[in-house]
This record gives sequence, C-alpha cells and structure tokens, in this order.
Amino acid sequence: MDSIKVFAPATVANVACGYDVLGFALQEIGDELIIRKTSGPGLTITEIHGSDELSKDADQNVVTVATQDMLNALGKPGLGFEFELTKKVKPGSGLGSSASSSAAAVFGVNRLLDEPFTKKELVQFAMEGEKLASGVPHADNVAPSLLGGFTFIRSYNPLDVLQLDYPQELCATVVHPQIEIKTSDAKRMLKQQIELRDAIVQWGNLGGLIHGLSKGDFDLIGRSLNDVIAEPIRGILIPGFQEAKVRSKQNGALGCSISGSGPSIFALSRGMKKAQIVAETFRSLFEEIGLESYVHVSPINPKGAEVLK
Ligand code: HSE
Repeated sequence: MDSIKVFAPATVANVACGYDVLGFALQEIGDELIIRKTSGPGLTITEIHGSDELSKDADQNVVTVATQDMLNALGKPGLGFEFELTKKVKPGSGLGSSASSSAAAVFGVNRLLDEPFTKKELVQFAMEGEKLASGVPHADNVAPSLLGGFTFIRSYNPLDVLQLDYPQELCATVVHPQIEIKTSDAKRMLKQQIELRDAIVQWGNLGGLIHGLSKGDFDLIGRSLNDVIAEPIRGILIPGFQEAKVRSKQNGALGCSISGSGPSIFALSRGMKKAQIVAETFRSLFEEIGLESYVHVSPINPKGAEVLK
C-alpha cells in the first residue's frame, strides 16, 4: 500500500474535573488526511484545506512533527511521506483540532508501515504535535482521538493510558461560539499551585465520574461533572458560559463544562433526544447573545482514528 486516507475525530478534553487526564471522542467531526509514500526522503505537506492559518513548514505543523517523532523512534528518520490535510475541526475551538491532525498522521503512517506500533503506543508521538501547538505535550485529546471512547491518563511519566467503560446511552452536545481561544494562552492563565481543599473536591469528582461511567450511574455522572480548578478561571473568557450551564441542566443535561481549553462548551445527556434538546437550548442562547455558534450532537465515538475508503 502506497497511500491511505484516514480520519481522526474531534475530542472533548478535561470533561470538567479531569484537567489534562480525561477525554472522549466525538462522532462525525474530525480531520481527514491523505498520506502518500514518496521515493525521496522527508515529510512534505502539499495541501491544507479548510484553514488558512496553519503552516505547511514541516517543523511548524503538528502532522509532520508528530510523524517525524514516530519515524525517529522507529529508527527510520529519513522515510518520505507527503500529506494532504483537510481540517474539519477549527483551530482554537477547544475541540482538539491539533490533536485530530496529529492523531490522523501517526495513525495513517503507522498503517502504511504495516503497524509497527499499537494505537496506544502512537499516543506518545501524537503528543509531540500537542507540544508544538500548545507548549505542553498533553494527551487528553490525542488519546481519545486515536483510541475512541473515554480515555484516562493515569500517568504521564511513564505514559499510562487507560480506556474507560462508559454507558452507550451517553451523548454529547457541543457548542462552539465563534470566537477563538489559543490553548497555549488558556494554559498560561491557570495557577501553578492549587489549594488542598480544591484538590480534594477535584479528585473526589474525578473518581466519582469514572465510577459513574463504569457503572452507568447517570446521577453520579451528573453530580461529578464539576471543575473547581480550570473552569472558574477560563469560564470568564466565554460569553454566555454560566447561562449555558444553568439552561442545559434545566433542560435535562447531566452536566455541562468547558470543552478542553474552550471556547467550546460541552454537555452530557442520557440519550440523543435529551442531547438534541440541549442543542436547541445552546442555539437559542447564543442567538440571544448575538454570537454565531456551531452546535453538534453526537454519541461517544467508540472507534477513534480510522481508515476511510
Ligand atoms: N487539557 C488541555 C487544557 C486541553 O485544558 O489545556 C486543551 O484542549
């Protein structure tokens, strides 16, 4: 096989209480990447569709940076590939845009090389893309984009990625108010020290959320979708955020928080019907505010990165 077309989904990272350690994958939205082997050495980006902002420079694009890291680990740094990227996740949306591109790249190249690495092993290479994009090699977007479902980073050093059980009825509603927040800026906003009393609340909720997901206990999931570390600081940047939380819960959502570093907001609901009602709630709220918004409703994507025909 000399060429391949792949898809890697958009993701919701943090999921309220799991800053930098928890994430899940969405259906339908994500980046597409066509990858071709070349006879000469080196990595080249030939086209980027759907975004004017991204560099085609091999040192400056997450696709080539993540791929190069993987080729180096394989001991074949000089292999040649060219990439045609179609961005369907907007950079700066909080839906794991850079992660979708990085995940698609390492997944596709790994397939073209007859899979020297497992999908889980690819997470560490895709993280190099995140390092380029945000300054921090976090895995809470790239892991679900590669593996699908809910993923949990038990440890970064050494990297220990877990795939969590979750109830199939769980559905996500995401709204992207059309403003941009750079993850690097949103990361810099956060305090480097937190109060012990906040840490106790946060790890209580994180444990509760993971237990609720594994047991299919929707009330517990709802009670646990609470972030006292990042959300109080970042929420200020997102117009309508507090109102979105209140109204989505009044309209049946289990809980609502910031998707990744924002400005997208996500809510989790039991079943598509409720998730659609929450979508309407978000739409009308942002119409009232006078801010254009994009709304997406989706079950949890169980597959992650995949080959397209
Ligand atoms: N965990 C990262 C953050 C996700 O919140 O900064 C960025 O999408």
